[in-house]
Amino acid sequence: MSVPEPTEAPAQTEPRLDKPTPKGPMSVDLAGLELQSPIILAAGTAGYADEILDVLKPQVLGAVTGKSITAQPREGHPTWRMVPLRGAMLNAIGLANTGIERFAEHVAPTHKLGRHGVRLIASVAGDTVDSYVRVVSEMDGLDGVDAVELNVSCPNVHGGADFGVDPKALVELVGAVRAALPSKPLIVKLPPVATGLPGIVTIARAAIEAQGVPSGPNGRPGADVLCLANTTPAMAIDPDTRRPRITNGTGGLSGPAVHAIVVKLIHDVYRGIARDEGVPIIGLGGVSNWREAAEFVLAGASAIGMGTATLADPSSPARVHKGLAKWAANQGAIKLTELVGSVKLD
Ligand SMILES: Cc1cc2nc3c(=O)[nH]c(=O)nc-3n(C[C@H](O)[C@H](O)[C@H](O)COP(=O)(O)O)c2cc1C
Repeated sequence: MSVPEPTEAPAQTEPRLDKPTPKGPMSVDLAGLELQSPIILAAGTAGYADEILDVLKPQVLGAVTGKSITAQPREGHPTWRMVPLRGAMLNAIGLANTGIERFAEHVAPTHKLGRHGVRLIASVAGDTVDSYVRVVSEMDGLDGVDAVELNVSCPNVHGGADFGVDPKALVELVGAVRAALPSKPLIVKLPPVATGLPGIVTIARAAIEAQGVPSGPNGRPGADVLCLANTTPAMAIDPDTRRPRITNGTGGLSGPAVHAIVVKLIHDVYRGIARDEGVPIIGLGGVSNWREAAEFVLAGASAIGMGTATLADPSSPARVHKGLAKWAANQGAIKLTELVGSVKLD
């Protein structure tokens, strides 16, 4: 008897791995966005979506955050745009991206992250309320997008970053965006430093309470999740040429040098508002090993973003995932999330 040639299984008989409901010890429920792992790749450091699949086993990832998308395509700043410093990276990419039209046509419908149980968080940037709303409304209708992260904190462009340091403007922006995103969780990514007054808790409150009608999957008026934090405004100068080391002049600092700053921001926001409001925090800044990730969890983060470390070593999220799991078990936790905010202060 001849055995028939195997044919490709029709799409509808393939296992539906694109909507997993992970329940493992490392799984996290981020305001309804269920992640199989707490590790999230940071916006701008992991391409648009699938690029990371070439270099990293996706099972260790909860989500990939794509690079920030704007209403129109952007070339970004001229090179040099990135320079390594001691214990840090300085960049001024200037939000180079394809714009929402190409993203909606070529990235959202075709990416393969869902097959591996990895979520796609779409980052959105703009310089006016209308420009954010335009992109977010489009994102709301895209099946391949699991959540939207609002970048109100990029230090390298004019416009968008201003929202992140002005509570009044943030309240208006987040309210308008919330109304344009009825079906997906909204993450608001804050700046690391609000220079002078107001402080980071005031900024976080503006993002959570926002303005307008409760909406979205959790019926909230503003952010479902906070991401802390974007890069820190910084500058490096070459003493020989006496010129700034990146063409834009100033840029954003990331990597190990910012980690301890972000631990405090998470700690302050968790205890100042997020814990009471039930708003989870994605901790992001300088994590390259599990100990640094564990510090974020203890300070109050439910998920861990990684950016600069993955540029140097794309396999680092796997090590962090493994180390965190072992640490949580050693601490007697059944689930990692039991340890969120459990720093001992007395
Ligand atoms: C090269 C580069 C590009 C970035 N682009 C974006 C971006 O498009 N949108 C955004 O919200 N953050 C962007 N960021 C900031 C990162 O998402 C992250 O907040 C920051 O790097 C701190 O995390 P890390 O120390 O783990 O890298 C970028 C960072 C780097 C290094």
